[in-house]
Amino acid sequence: MKITVAQKRPDKLSGSLVAVPVVEGKGLVGVAADFDGSMRGLVKELSKRKKMNGKTGESVVSHPTGKDAPASIALYGIGKEPFSGKAARKYAADAVRLASKEKLKRLVLLLPDMGEGEEEALLQAVTEGAILGNYRFEKYKSEGAIGKEGERVGSVSVVIGDAAVLADARKGVKRGEIYSRGTEFARELVNEPACEMTPGRLADLAKSIVAENPKALTMKLMDRAALKKMGAGGLLAVAQGSSEPPYMIHLKYKPAGKPKSRVVLVGKGITFDSGGLSLKPSQGMEDMKIDMSGAAAVLGAFSVIAELAPDVEVHGIAGLCENMPSGHAIRPGDVVTAMNGKTIEILNTDAEGRVTLADSLHYGARLEPDFMIDLATLTGACVVALGQEVAGLMTNSDGLADRLLEASEAEGEMIWRLPLPEEYEELVKSPVADLKNISGSKYGGAITAGLFLKNFVGDTAWAHLDIAGPAWAEKDTVAHQPRGATGFGVRAVLRFVESL
Ligand code: BES
Ligand code: ZN
Ligand code: ZN
Repeated sequence: MKITVAQKRPDKLSGSLVAVPVVEGKGLVGVAADFDGSMRGLVKELSKRKKMNGKTGESVVSHPTGKDAPASIALYGIGKEPFSGKAARKYAADAVRLASKEKLKRLVLLLPDMGEGEEEALLQAVTEGAILGNYRFEKYKSEGAIGKEGERVGSVSVVIGDAAVLADARKGVKRGEIYSRGTEFARELVNEPACEMTPGRLADLAKSIVAENPKALTMKLMDRAALKKMGAGGLLAVAQGSSEPPYMIHLKYKPAGKPKSRVVLVGKGITFDSGGLSLKPSQGMEDMKIDMSGAAAVLGAFSVIAELAPDVEVHGIAGLCENMPSGHAIRPGDVVTAMNGKTIEILNTDAEGRVTLADSLHYGARLEPDFMIDLATLTGACVVALGQEVAGLMTNSDGLADRLLEASEAEGEMIWRLPLPEEYEELVKSPVADLKNISGSKYGGAITAGLFLKNFVGDTAWAHLDIAGPAWAEKDTVAHQPRGATGFGVRAVLRFVESL
């Protein structure tokens, strides 16, 4: 998708969808009012007739006649001033999706006035909305089926009122393109079926990311033999039921100058979660190719990090394996020893994520980062608590919490903090080992999983993002996250790193 910003509308509007913002309490202003003038008041008339007052979520579409008229004009309520990043992302995503539905390849997006100094951030949000709202995974569809869902929009011409801020606006577009590319990278990995996206394939993809940027990126790949040597008993235990060999990947981005700080990103990388011998019911298993979404987010971030070139050293760790039942599989009651020497009683083989993360987090903590963040589709309980669009944040550092909440808010990725109360720590202690992998209580499952992980981070400032809900969109609830894999976490993590 080609995105351009200019102060002037494109000369030719026929065949395009023109999106017009309606500001709550103000109506048509700036370039929207200009456009209305050129349409002889038709736009204003339409908004009046449909009683639009500019509230977010309101929209009206019309198909004007006339040789040079646009194919469609769509009015969108964008809420009160000032224009926010959230409203900007939604406006662009809604418009691009309508254009696609109407099979219009060109979108002209008129923007409202922007707060001074906000242009770069707002154009980044607009770009993300347009690109991410336009995304679809259609690799496995025959051509006919693709046509039915509409075609993708090829170009977006963004029109702004103030020529003085064009340079900043274009910077925002550039950053939005990079962040979106990282997000789409993650989406592609998660959308692939588990028969394709095996641990070995993910490891190969990590290698190819490094190959594209050998100056800034390096990677260490640990296979089963190396994992045995390291004592990564958690990852090996979960992997042992599958015929797919496990890997741990360790990616590293090194900035050209002296790094300001060091960040470790850890992703859960279960390429398929059948539950193992504690087998999931068929419905619960349907979507379990998504259980590597955390690892995909880490790879997505690494796919663009060299281009963003932050002054921060970044490490990406993912333990990759498949959780399958078989004659070799781990059994309930087995005891395994994680890399840090702690023993874990496996009571439910479906609580496998935390067992593999035990090793990845310990590995990450040994790198002595300033901050460590893990992303994991860890618990159904987190989805029960926060719903399908909001990730759970659990952390031992208030400072890190603040930074992550700010980064995710700016990127339109919703997260909400849950506590890690000392009082619940007992719940994951085992009578026969140091820890057990389920709490035995039917309550607070997201938190007890977080408390389990805490045993492997030492005193590192660490945050755990349980992305079981938002990693996958069942419905089109969030405009820039169409049905399917969302690539959740990539942008928040990138923004966090860039904010250091
Ligand atoms: N991968 C699942 C969690 C999950 C659920 C991710 C729904 C995405 C959507 C995880 O490995 C799991 O199975 N967790 C169990 C834990 C339980 C056995 C303590 C769960 O949430 O039921
Ligand atoms: Zn599981
Ligand atoms: Zn899982």
